[in-house]
Amino acid sequence: MDKFRQDAINFLKTETKLKDIPLEIPPDPKMGDYAFPCFALSKQLKKSPNDIAKDIAAKFRPTEYLSEAKPTGPYLNFFVNQNLLRETTLKDIQKHKEKYGSKKSKDEKIMIEYSSPNTNKAQHLGHVRNNLLGIALSNILEFSGYKVIKTCLMNDKGMGVAKSMLAYRLWGNNQEPDIKSDHFVAKWYIEFGSRAKDDPELEDKAKQLNKLFEEGDPKTIELWKKMSKWVYDGYDITYKRLGCVFDKIYYETRIYKKGKDIVAKGLKQGIFEEDEGAVIANLEKFKIPNKVLLKSDGTSLYITQDIYLAELKEKEFGVDRSIYVVASEQNLHFQQLFVILKLLGHKWAKKCYHLIYGMINLPEGKMKSREGTVVNADDLMDDMEKLAETEIKKRHDLPEDEIKRRAVQIGIGALKFYILKYEPAKDFLYNPKESISFEGETGPYVQYAHARICSIFRKYGKDIDYDADYSLLNSDYEKKLVILLKQFPGLINDSAEHYKPSMICHYLLNLAQQFNEFYHNCPILRAEEDVMKARLALADSVRQVLKNGLALLGIEAPEEM
Ligand code: ARG
Repeated sequence: MDKFRQDAINFLKTETKLKDIPLEIPPDPKMGDYAFPCFALSKQLKKSPNDIAKDIAAKFRPTEYLSEAKPTGPYLNFFVNQNLLRETTLKDIQKHKEKYGSKKSKDEKIMIEYSSPNTNKAQHLGHVRNNLLGIALSNILEFSGYKVIKTCLMNDKGMGVAKSMLAYRLWGNNQEPDIKSDHFVAKWYIEFGSRAKDDPELEDKAKQLNKLFEEGDPKTIELWKKMSKWVYDGYDITYKRLGCVFDKIYYETRIYKKGKDIVAKGLKQGIFEEDEGAVIANLEKFKIPNKVLLKSDGTSLYITQDIYLAELKEKEFGVDRSIYVVASEQNLHFQQLFVILKLLGHKWAKKCYHLIYGMINLPEGKMKSREGTVVNADDLMDDMEKLAETEIKKRHDLPEDEIKRRAVQIGIGALKFYILKYEPAKDFLYNPKESISFEGETGPYVQYAHARICSIFRKYGKDIDYDADYSLLNSDYEKKLVILLKQFPGLINDSAEHYKPSMICHYLLNLAQQFNEFYHNCPILRAEEDVMKARLALADSVRQVLKNGLALLGIEAPEEM
């Protein structure tokens, strides 16, 4: 618990008799550390907020934690005991290290489903955003004490899969993959698309193959198994590079039939209706469009499996919250799904939450390269590593393997930071060149601040002594840094509760920038012995918090750049 804040709250509770004290953080630390707005009391006390601020201020006596309470217009601003704040904050960071900002484990379980690709495609830029959000959110929620279960749904059947199987069967000559194996499967899906333009019969053939698959035709299953393995072998590589981990993977092929059963039962019970041979959920009273749950030929749809999947998740894990990280295009799908679960009498439907994310565009156009092909995750990562390599070579003359190692840290870090920096729901333009820049709102900028601090310690060459005289950290630069460091745990909490890793990105940019200002204005190793000691402890704390923040985003913190 934050004792400084609590002290101000206790004082205000006694003086105002309010149950909830809304404490704000003033925009400029010179104005104080906490601000209490007096407007709300104005009516009840029949006084102007300015007078109320003055009256309460008159009753204040300094405490161990708070040195002053100053009325400023309609606000009462509190100033904390700076020395105590510095000492407790820095020692707290030193004590908890990589755990600083984390919370004790809670009983609450949260499931995060993310990635969930269609297995006839290689992963593209949209999946990258999905994967990165899934990784970061899992990290942040785990750090905040929740038990997190990471899941993925493989949509491994349907027309898309049938099309790539058919194309391979017709034109693939039983060839083994000569490119990354998931790209190889995707290639046949694309091939199908271009040939089907001139040959309308192909669509029907794909439908037949899809049906044969659902009927369990051995030859079709065999082909499906072979191609599925190629897809997963390829995905494994992509997932490893991005840092995706799952506790449980669901497969549509293993659940869709159960979904059909639920729909059939719901029809009998009068929960769903028949409509020209199809089964639909009538959602008029929820003011959203009706949803087809089973086609008139009896085959399942995307939503069919989702109805059972939700039940299965609840049965297997009984979570307190179930989050689906899926693109905003599927807004309506999830609105309908959650309402349908309610219709089926599932009280836990209210625990389900669709976490939407927007589109990423590339300078060349809508997620496509100039050649018109969708930018896939692997090529994008290769490109980023190459860009990083160029940047590193500009700065250092290093052995090839060291360049490669750093290029991965910096290139992938740049990609992750740039994407996570935007609030999930926002669309944005991904500019690879801008993202790799060591200046500006980028991952490398934050990583560089970290590496810079590490280099100070390499030069210093000794252990850091946290038994320093913290009263010496009294410039505005140092005060600002301490306040930022102290805000880190609260910030993590907010980013967890709002499902917004972007808040951490902005915090880290701010911290890195404030550090750079401090560094330019307050010499560390050239300062006098006791000032140096205090500043080293401050720098080490900044290093730790930068590292912790980056780790939550799934980004490495290089010691040299
Ligand atoms: N595979 C789907 C797609 O790529 C997303 C699946 C999302 N998850 C779910 N339970 N429906 O569009």
